[in-house]
Amino acid sequence: MKAVTWHGKGDVRVQEVPDPRIEQPTDAVIKVTTTNICGSDLHLYEPLAAFMGVGDVLGHEAMGIVEEVGSQCGELRVGDRVSIPFQISCGHCWMCAQQLYTQCETTQVRDQGMGAALFGFSKLYGQVPGGQAQYLRVPQAQFTHIKLPDGPSDDRFAYLSDILPTAWQGVEYAAVPDGGTLVVLGLGPVGDFACRIAQHKGYRVIGVDLVPERLARVRARGVEVLDLNEHQNDLGDVIRQLTQGRGPDSVLDAVGMEAHGSAATTFVQKAAGLLPAAIAAPLQQTAGVDRLNALYAAIDMVRRGGTISLSGVYGGAADPMPMLTLFDKQIQLRMGQCNVKRWISHIMPLLTDQDPLGVDTFATHRVSLDQAPEAYRSFAQKRDGHVKVQLKP
Ligand SMILES: NC(=O)c1ccc[n+]([C@@H]2O[C@H](COP(=O)([O-])OP(=O)(O)OC[C@H]3O[C@@H](n4cnc5c(N)ncnc54)[C@H](O)[C@@H]3O)[C@@H](O)[C@H]2O)c1
Ligand SMILES: [Zn+2]
Ligand SMILES: [Zn+2]
Repeated sequence: MKAVTWHGKGDVRVQEVPDPRIEQPTDAVIKVTTTNICGSDLHLYEPLAAFMGVGDVLGHEAMGIVEEVGSQCGELRVGDRVSIPFQISCGHCWMCAQQLYTQCETTQVRDQGMGAALFGFSKLYGQVPGGQAQYLRVPQAQFTHIKLPDGPSDDRFAYLSDILPTAWQGVEYAAVPDGGTLVVLGLGPVGDFACRIAQHKGYRVIGVDLVPERLARVRARGVEVLDLNEHQNDLGDVIRQLTQGRGPDSVLDAVGMEAHGSAATTFVQKAAGLLPAAIAAPLQQTAGVDRLNALYAAIDMVRRGGTISLSGVYGGAADPMPMLTLFDKQIQLRMGQCNVKRWISHIMPLLTDQDPLGVDTFATHRVSLDQAPEAYRSFAQKRDGHVKVQLKP
């Protein structure tokens, strides 16, 4: 089959790889009909490159049709239409019983000290072949799937594997009080959906980004937006002015470790990227090379006693955190990979013909698998209005 594979920093290719097959009785194989490129793939494209292997199949946002099932796949049947959550979870361990599917004790990547295995997400998360391919092997398939109705086009369900539940969890974790205000930092696919969800829940929402098309897209849905380019030095002050001088109740950071706006750390990150992988991997994990610009902005602007919710991925083990300010402002900090299946029953009722979240028109680009390398470049550089790219294998 054809698959999108990793070959080096900023170098992905489409290659022929062996077809996946059933290896365990709990495995299924799906024929992928739609799979997306995600902001998280860009971390592998650049800062997390040290954890990738040449030829690794990328992707963790796949949906399709079940092609084959092992003997212990529960209710899953050949021909079922499914979305595949980005994390692999068993559904029956202690963590799964708490709905903490990203911490599944059956699939935890213990040799790396990490949580549940993820599709297409480097050695840190089990090096499981990903879903930007014609076919995908799904381990723990008895639980690692969301059954979908036939009928509506793939667009309706294309974001259930990751960004829609991720945005939902981000808003939940932000714990916005009734009538409260949420600032969403970053208006990529995750931040954009978070604004729509928060608006749907009746909160006041203020979105911040620096890409004109992304700001325009969110503004067009009636959300207040601020352009970071115009507020590099006074974002916190401007937001305080908009919120009675106090700051918002909650801030959702949908940016993560590739924030714009702090040149010194970019330099360190680049330097680490030039080292041999064996040295660069521990350095990138421990040396605090992440770019914490968005997180620092969140800590600065959130009101005293407010909540910061992190959807954006952070990967450093020794990043400097302003503990004095966090403690003194009594800030609550909540974060983590999204426990996808936890939120599906909340989201499904909104995936109707009325389409309150605008999923049917969310994708900005649809290309064939062969065009993935160019699509990665455009998405990484935020060129030509690329916000969400679907790949059609
Ligand atoms: N927690 C999870 O389970 C989960 C799931 C999916 C994605 N993510 C993470 O969420 C983050 C966003 O994902 P995405 O797909 O929307 O990616 P993206 O890279 O397209 O979006 C990030 C946006 O942040 C903007 N930005 C950069 N610096 C900023 C700053 N200082 N202030 C405000 N905006 C800034 C960028 O212009 C961009 O529009 C990534 O870190 C991704 O890895 C997490
Ligand atoms: Zn994703
Ligand atoms: Zn489990």
